[in-house]
Amino acid sequence: MKIRSVILGAGCYLPERVLTNTDLAKMVDTTDEWIVQRTGIHERHIAAPGQVTSELGLRAAQAALADANVDPQTIDLIILATSTPDNTFPATAVSIQAGLGITGGAAFDLQAVCSGFVYGLATADGLLQTGNFKRALLIGAETFSRILDWTDRTTCVLFGDGAGAVVLEAQEQPGERTDRGVLITRLRSDGRHKTKLYVDGGPSSTQTVGHLRMEGKEVFRHAVAMITDVVEDAFRATGYTAKDLDWFVPHQANKRIIDGSAHKLGVDANKVIITVDKHGNTSAASIPLALCAGLADGRIKRGDLVMLEAMGGGFTWGAALVRM
Ligand code: UT7
Repeated sequence: MKIRSVILGAGCYLPERVLTNTDLAKMVDTTDEWIVQRTGIHERHIAAPGQVTSELGLRAAQAALADANVDPQTIDLIILATSTPDNTFPATAVSIQAGLGITGGAAFDLQAVCSGFVYGLATADGLLQTGNFKRALLIGAETFSRILDWTDRTTCVLFGDGAGAVVLEAQEQPGERTDRGVLITRLRSDGRHKTKLYVDGGPSSTQTVGHLRMEGKEVFRHAVAMITDVVEDAFRATGYTAKDLDWFVPHQANKRIIDGSAHKLGVDANKVIITVDKHGNTSAASIPLALCAGLADGRIKRGDLVMLEAMGGGFTWGAALVRM
């Protein structure tokens, strides 16, 4: 027997305001054609003035709890993956905890930029397996619009705001690869690349929030190799192959990176969940938003084998194989 972290439900939230490529073309020197061709993005959601990351995360968490049909009081672990916290501290996760009316258990933020959800899943899974926690809420929530330089066309067209969440439960399973739940996670980072995608501010360095800076070409150059390497490692560890996958739910940064990774791994294009066209890159929120979209329209079903993967600032990257 083995304790597995089983996904009981998922939920998401996107702010009301939609910013299209045509809107952006009025703000910086860009075109709808360039953005679509280079990234696959058509539009993204932007949080309203005053709408903070914890509000987005709370709404996604409430939706996930409703989907799982779980009483918030049974949640004893909350992990929020975010790079855009409400404040430097306390953790934004405790605001979500308070918003849910939960006063017990543990809540904390996790920072791994775009890989935050995969890192969060590995962390939640590890903590659930200790037996010290029974039910976890894992949330990815971001307001990247707050850290974008809206005069820099090379970055401001790429990102959006949003949140997604899953409820995880520790369940005893036979300990076989046909189990439900998180079957394997693989995490990586390499700080030699830390200045290729970063924010040029922070409490300890500039005492300002700063703006996102990226050498897009450099990130692009490493992305497919890093993603496919870690996904193949997850396959090797479980004995599964790309052919066994029901769904591939990648971090949504760029349609070209997603297509390139799926192609290199041998994953059928019709098994890939794509939301980057409508959401842009929502960093740690992108995987749960995509998962949620696939579950909501009935494509992803109970029992399906799903590979999640992400790569981003740090660089950090990782993969998780999950049976729904
Ligand atoms: O979550 C992980 C983090 N991020 C990523 O995964 C992003 C990774 N990188 C990328 O997705 C791509 O590198 C970008 C979409 C950012 C850029 O695509 P690219 O094909 O690498 O374009 P480029 O940077 O080589 O730029 C090509 C040209 C340049 O003009 P010149 O120098 O050729 O005259 C840019 O100045 O496109 C220009 N350009 C733009 N033109 C219109 C850059 N941004 C824009 C823009 N609109 N928004």
